[in-house]
This record gives sequence, C-alpha cells and structure tokens, in this order.
Amino acid sequence: KPIHILNGPNLNLLGLRQPEIYGRETLADVAARCEALAAELGAEVVFRQSNHEGAIVEMIHEAREAASAIIINPAAYTHTSVAILDALNAFEGPVFEVHISNVHKRESFRHHSYVSLRADGVMAGFGTEGYLLALRRAVSVLKA
Ligand code: DQA
Repeated sequence: KPIHILNGPNLNLLGLRQPEIYGRETLADVAARCEALAAELGAEVVFRQSNHEGAIVEMIHEAREAASAIIINPAAYTHTSVAILDALNAFEGPVFEVHISNVHKRESFRHHSYVSLRADGVMAGFGTEGYLLALRRAVSVLKA
C-alpha cells in the first residue's frame, strides 16, 4: 500500500507564502521530489493537500484502508485540531509529523502539537527536506 502524504491549510501557497520562513519551493515541487524518492526506495506515495479540517479528517479515514503509513503536515491545524488527532488515532499504521519551519523557534502557540500525541516521529525545521527524511523513515519502519 502507498504512503499517504497529507498537507493542511495554506500549504497550497508554498513557495509564494512567507518564503523567508517556508522557502521558494512549491508544493508541486515537494510532491515531485517525494515521488522521485519513493521510486528510488521502491515505495509509492499519494500526495494530497486541503485547506479544510473536515476534508483532512476524511483523508485520514480513507488512509485507514488505503495507506501503509501517513506523513502529515497539518499546518495550522497542528496546534488546534483534536479532530485530526482523533482521526489519526483511528489509523493503525505509523504516523510521521512534518513541519517545514522549526515551530519551537517561533511563536509559543506553535510549540504545542495535538498531532505529536500520536506521531511516531516529528521533523521540524529541516525545510522541505523534512518530507524526504520522513519518507525514508516511513519506508524503513515499514520494512522492519
Ligand atoms: C507549519 C508550521 C505551522 O505552525 C504553520 O501554521 C504552517 C506550516 C510548517 O510546515 O512549518 O502553516 O506546519
């Protein structure tokens, strides 16, 4: 089964939005790099984004059957969403949380993550490379 890489609100504007924080790469660039790495590792990825909390909850429900692991950047919902945490708690495979920026270096409201209560690992502050590192980890955990 593929690894699902899920992205939350405003990440559709990656590359345009606060490039001093998030860089100049677009989400399509990140998706392409994840697909290329997955091919190299003999894995498959499904890459998705939504600005809507309920849509992300439903993507996680779909992953229950369809995905071997979830890599998620819940963006601002990281810090607010019990619903996304509950949905992830209903998923049985490994879950990895990614933040492009180092959330711990930023405003205190970004220091708490509901999703971290479920995540098996967290990448923060590694830029978009965090997705690739999380993908390598997901593949090795699934092989173990
Ligand atoms: C983010 C960090 C969040 O605090 C923020 O709301 C985002 C992106 C990151 O990737 O660094 O939208 O998840």
